[in-house]
Amino acid sequence: MTTTTVRTQVGIVGAGPAGLWLAHLLAVAGIDSVVLERRSRVEIAATHRAGILEQGTVDLMAALGLDARMRAEGYAHHGIELRVAGEARRVDFADLVGRAVQLYPQQEVFSDLADGAAARGLDVRFEVADVAVHDLTSQAPSITFTDADGTPARLVCDFVAGCDGSRGIAKWAIPENVRTDHFREYPFGWFGILVEAPPSAPELIYAASDHGFALISQRTATTQRMYFQCDPTDRPDNWDDARIWDQLEACTAAPGFALTRGPIVDKTVIPMRSYVCEPMQHGRLFLAGDAGHTVPPTGAKGMNLAAGDVAVLARSLERFYRDGQHDLLDAYSATALARVWKAQHFSWWMTSMLHTHPGASTFDRRRQLGELDLVTTSRAGSTYLAEAYTGWPLIPTRPGFLDPDTALGAALASQLPAEAVTA
Ligand code: FAD
Ligand code: DHB
Repeated sequence: MTTTTVRTQVGIVGAGPAGLWLAHLLAVAGIDSVVLERRSRVEIAATHRAGILEQGTVDLMAALGLDARMRAEGYAHHGIELRVAGEARRVDFADLVGRAVQLYPQQEVFSDLADGAAARGLDVRFEVADVAVHDLTSQAPSITFTDADGTPARLVCDFVAGCDGSRGIAKWAIPENVRTDHFREYPFGWFGILVEAPPSAPELIYAASDHGFALISQRTATTQRMYFQCDPTDRPDNWDDARIWDQLEACTAAPGFALTRGPIVDKTVIPMRSYVCEPMQHGRLFLAGDAGHTVPPTGAKGMNLAAGDVAVLARSLERFYRDGQHDLLDAYSATALARVWKAQHFSWWMTSMLHTHPGASTFDRRRQLGELDLVTTSRAGSTYLAEAYTGWPLIPTRPGFLDPDTALGAALASQLPAEAVTA
């Protein structure tokens, strides 16, 4: 069969949040892209993952004009509860840092981005196969793939963006002798359920108990998301509904609190890892989102990191095409990693502080309770948590990034307070 050749400026592998945000941002800057995705649209829209968007991620959706449904159907959360051995301790984001987060499921973000892509006329190809990247250190890299109808194809581009998630192929194209894989595995995972029931609480509850960690999150008025700590090798079938509710109730028990039960419609075991690929670029390949790093889910940082990466990458590409300057592109990995490592620390810290560690001594456990006490009773301690949870600026606020004379610089700056832009 003859190979079809397609030409674009930026070839994007993966249509998760990172890939689709990048395609939209590039379109705002007048840069063409083609997005290649292995899975079907239906399959991606049915995968339960993130629930919490930082304020900067909400602002990004607004900058793209894709925030209407998120504002109508999502929920602004102005704080979280840390439940320490049955005692409720609220961290008030509004009071501590004047910011909020938005509860809005990743599948809905994906649907808004995919619908928006169709409306904008972006070239997003689902159900492609055999994706491979080539000639990344040349001026004309390319991506070979098999299109959904079985046609072999080659996408010739100026740049390749690896937005293909933690199990993608792009990062392996960075040679081993220039790549450092920073990796950490945790001795526990999360058992996640989706429940058809009204919410048990108005805000998220992160519960640290002698029975282990649990997180009570929400989705809608009739569907809820809950997690509890489990063995990472455990399997969903090992837990029947009665055992799941017993465990969740043991972890979240507190005076006057009752979990609202309902039919469990989805069960998954989620492994917990920290990973960073350094550098996040090689020749004309740039990694963004989970393709370049993963965090354990405690603290809700993963998807929000993807938003920061692609905002920096898109603005760097805009500078290249508009001004002929590659300074921002050259610095991409260093710029993105500065934010990534803060989130790596925060996610590791939240995970370590809230989970029961197998084999922990009484010293370890008492020290952990001391830390939780400090974080929830000291204004300095809880301000750090609130600042990190609601998120750092998506892109550096120094001149050069938020250049109001450029389409993208102006769009990103439009969502920020004026003092941030001129800082
Ligand atoms: P992905 O969403 O993984 O998208 C990558 C895409 O690339 C996929 O669609 C995949 O099919 C495609 N792909 C892979 N390989 C190829 C290939 N060879 N060719 C073509 N396409 C390919 N984050 C938060 O910010 N807040 C939260 O509250 C939160 N909660 C979470 C809860 C859970 C239980 C889990 C598991 C994760 C959570 N996360 C959260 C993390 C978040 O889901 C991820 O960080 C996010 O999906 C990363 O987006 P991405 O676009 O980089 O990668
Ligand atoms: C959700 C997931 C998280 O990892 C988190 O920290 C908060 C909320 C969720 O799926 O709702």
